[in-house]
Amino acid sequence: MSFDRSIKIAPSILSADFANFGAEIRAIEDQGADWVHIDVMDGHFVPNLTFGPPAVKAFRPHVKTFMDVHLMIAPVDPYIEAYAEAGADMIVAHWEAGPHPHRTLQAIKAQGVKCGISLNPGTPASVISELLDLVDMVLVMSVNPGFGGQKFIPGSVNKVRQVREMIGDREIHIQVDGGVDPTTVGPLVEAGADCFVAGSAVFKGGSVDKPEVYGQNIAAIRAAAEGALKAAQ
Ligand code: DX5
Ligand code: ZN
Repeated sequence: MSFDRSIKIAPSILSADFANFGAEIRAIEDQGADWVHIDVMDGHFVPNLTFGPPAVKAFRPHVKTFMDVHLMIAPVDPYIEAYAEAGADMIVAHWEAGPHPHRTLQAIKAQGVKCGISLNPGTPASVISELLDLVDMVLVMSVNPGFGGQKFIPGSVNKVRQVREMIGDREIHIQVDGGVDPTTVGPLVEAGADCFVAGSAVFKGGSVDKPEVYGQNIAAIRAAAEGALKAAQ
């Protein structure tokens, strides 16, 4: 994957039909998704449970674009190899998941996959200053992780701006996750984010039988994002 800061929409399959993941992944990709975002939750780091490595392995053959796996689990280090072997293109761990985020990022890199660090809403941007040379992406959480459909936290925009300044010339993506929709994406783009996770805003009103709704939803987020990018240039 060559690096660029073009707008990328990464639907989270947390909002998909859990009885039909293969078809759901194919539908969002046919309808314009750039990446497919997998939310892994452990019932401990976050109060919800989702996908183990075998589930991610089952998703893999359906994903033709890029699969980023967001690990909301603690401890995280013991599971990195299994999620890499399941076929993640990128593994994102939380800074808050343990005392040694630097070691965690080294462990992800050692698997030969892209790596990212995620920050909860209560965590300041400054904590990642010594980690930036190790990461391909910073994920700024704009809700407290655990559930889809939560309200966007406006302070996330300022954090994105701070992370963008810290990154400087480095080839690092900034992803935002939580409450992203056509009304919230603009200021995030202007602040410097390029990759947007969206669950409810992509899947609402659609289904594998009505995939064009996914297409309209993705297009609406992209149009708002690209409009903001043009205005900022
Ligand atoms: C929250 C997850 C998000 C979530 C986004 O813990 O990491 O990916 O599914 O969902 P929406 O877009 O509905 O806020
Ligand atoms: Zn996520």
